[in-house]
Amino acid sequence: MTTPEESAAAAAAAAGSEPSLVVAGEYSFIVVSNRLPVDRVIDAEGNASWAGSPGGLVTALEPVMRKNEGAWIGWGGQPDLEFEPFDSDGIRVIPVPLSADEIENYYEGFSNDTLWPLYHDVIAPPSFHREWWESYVEVNQRFARAAAEAAAEGAIVWVQDYQLQLVPKMLRELRPDLTIGFFNHIPFPPYGIYSQLPWRAQIVEGLLGADVIGFQRVADASNFQRAVRRLKGYVTKGTQVEVPLVDQTPGVRVFGPIKRQGNFRTVIARAFPISIDSASFEELARSASVQERAQQIREELGNPKTVMLGVDRLDYTKGIGHRLKAYGELLAEGKLSAEDVTLVQVANPSRERVQAYMELRDEIELTVGRINGDYGTIAHSPISYQHHGFPRDEMVALYLAADVMLVTALRDGMNLVAKEYVACRFDDDGVLVLSEFAGASDELKRALLINPHDIEGLKEVILQAIGMPKRDRRARMRSLRKRVLEHDVSRWSNEFLQVLGSYAHHGSAGHELR
Ligand code: F6P
Repeated sequence: MTTPEESAAAAAAAAGSEPSLVVAGEYSFIVVSNRLPVDRVIDAEGNASWAGSPGGLVTALEPVMRKNEGAWIGWGGQPDLEFEPFDSDGIRVIPVPLSADEIENYYEGFSNDTLWPLYHDVIAPPSFHREWWESYVEVNQRFARAAAEAAAEGAIVWVQDYQLQLVPKMLRELRPDLTIGFFNHIPFPPYGIYSQLPWRAQIVEGLLGADVIGFQRVADASNFQRAVRRLKGYVTKGTQVEVPLVDQTPGVRVFGPIKRQGNFRTVIARAFPISIDSASFEELARSASVQERAQQIREELGNPKTVMLGVDRLDYTKGIGHRLKAYGELLAEGKLSAEDVTLVQVANPSRERVQAYMELRDEIELTVGRINGDYGTIAHSPISYQHHGFPRDEMVALYLAADVMLVTALRDGMNLVAKEYVACRFDDDGVLVLSEFAGASDELKRALLINPHDIEGLKEVILQAIGMPKRDRRARMRSLRKRVLEHDVSRWSNEFLQVLGSYAHHGSAGHELR
């Protein structure tokens, strides 16, 4: 008796393509990410449902999904969720279960306490644990298998982010007929830092299973290429990496949709800076209800002369402490007063079971309490601190209400908050203070760029932002808006998929995206 895998291999061989090691599924375009675009949520009464407001990635990929029998593979956000695939707003959703142990070892451990701090310039010390690595390998294998089983012959699969860096190679081994893309949403560190990782070679090999590897910044792509040269000795030329075919997995004769030249296949590793759904932010900002709400927010804050805003996940990479230090000193020196200025700090709870995040919360909340206690009056608190997220319309109202937006990240792949602020300011007003360590600073050059470690410099720029004449604010914001509106998330995904599509087997079983 033949197994389904053997029949698939025989059928593929008869069709003249390379055999798959897994029976092909039905989806021609697949996105694989750690989290699904919908989350399984359980309310106070214990009732469970799928919920989620679509982020930029979903908005950009939804039309491609609809036109191309698309599916999204990911985790539903709760332990042990065994769910059959289902449709959500026209997207086929394929949940991958994670056990409580895997959440602890693969997600909180290796992804967010090893890779996250390592890839963000070791702002916090990374922990290296072999059992976390083993869990990472196992979970990556599960995601790769789910993608291999769902993908149609010659499908295009786009893997997202640092939690799944081994998936491209694992998937290629299971399904050599696929075209595989990978996008790294966070920075890729310089080799001197990356080389600390005990599994540095395995991660590079995992990524090189893709045909196209996207990074946020040119510097990230260069860092990756250097790691490839140092660890594998492969040649890189411009955006191309030459991966020798002899180095491929035994048993897989020839790789599928590859650009082959002689004895190597080429992998593209280059920057594709991500963006937001700019037009939808602007549209919301133009709505009367949001503008009224923006006005109301200012009134609720006691109509200060200046509203400053920080919006971040509560993460040590965001430089919230540096921002508070600068602001606190300006208040202490009498250069600002609580009557005139309010800082609204939205700190979205994140990864709350990871020790470094617990410590950060205590540190930030202690600082906020001290500043409010020392410099507040009965009527005015210098900081309005919000430890929760807000719906999108409330966020947009906050952006409109803010005269100065503070983005002081110590390291950030891109920082979409900076782009959201700009997209909302259809009135050409508002000043963006932006860290040069955020990827967005490569594009948003007319923001007031700062080094958040330089507290004196940051203080000067905050004062400059508060005092900037309207003409200058307008000129800067216009130029920022041009960039963000022209380079939105659809353009980002189209560019990536166009490059990736050039790797597909056109004319044979390979899928061409519509
Ligand atoms: O920036 C990387 C990222 O994974 C984003 O995709 C995500 O929004 C954020 O970090 C938070 O991630 P999570 O809550 O899934 O750990």
